[in-house]
Amino acid sequence: MTEKMSGPIDTIASAIWFILPAYVANAAPVVLGGGPPLDFGKKFLDGRRIFGDGKTTRGFVGGIIAGTVIGLLQGIFRAPLGEHILLGFMLALGALLGDLVSSFIKRRIDIERGGAAPGMDQLSFVVVALLLASPVKVPSWQIIVILLIITPPIHLATNFIGYKLGFKSRPY
Ligand code: CTP
Ligand code: MG
Repeated sequence: MTEKMSGPIDTIASAIWFILPAYVANAAPVVLGGGPPLDFGKKFLDGRRIFGDGKTTRGFVGGIIAGTVIGLLQGIFRAPLGEHILLGFMLALGALLGDLVSSFIKRRIDIERGGAAPGMDQLSFVVVALLLASPVKVPSWQIIVILLIITPPIHLATNFIGYKLGFKSRPY
């Protein structure tokens, strides 16, 4: 009943609640990243790096753990616990894989590590997160539309804050 009567603010809140593990998984590597690069310095067939130095093993694993922990906390606040943990893990894994796909494409079109790919930088992680989470849960179409609209500005704002706090070398 209350679900049916929810207004736009409730839908935006539900969208952020749903995608939170992906957001945290995407942001965590900025703080947790380090160690050998995920591609171990290897080059692709075109002679350029597979992913580049911006994708590290610690960032990848740390991001997945951070997002899964958010799912765990969500499950403690609002059951069912098991589904939230699984959802947190799939959203986090999807976010990290989506970010990797973006870096892979950027290297192929000769955008260097840290260079901007407007649109892809902000959306690839959330799109792949939704895809990987879909066997567990598909949110309403309204939530999906809201996520596609609010994620780019939220991503840009958090990156700018990360830059100001000294975690990132570039503001975007
Ligand atoms: N990071 C990491 N491991 C990951 C993803 C990110 O260590 N799997 C860290 C890196 O220090 C990276 C920073 O988080 O520089 C910001 O992430 P992102 O903007 O995605 O990487 P870029 O450096 O911009 O590299 P790319 O051009 O490949 O996106
Ligand atoms: Mg970047």
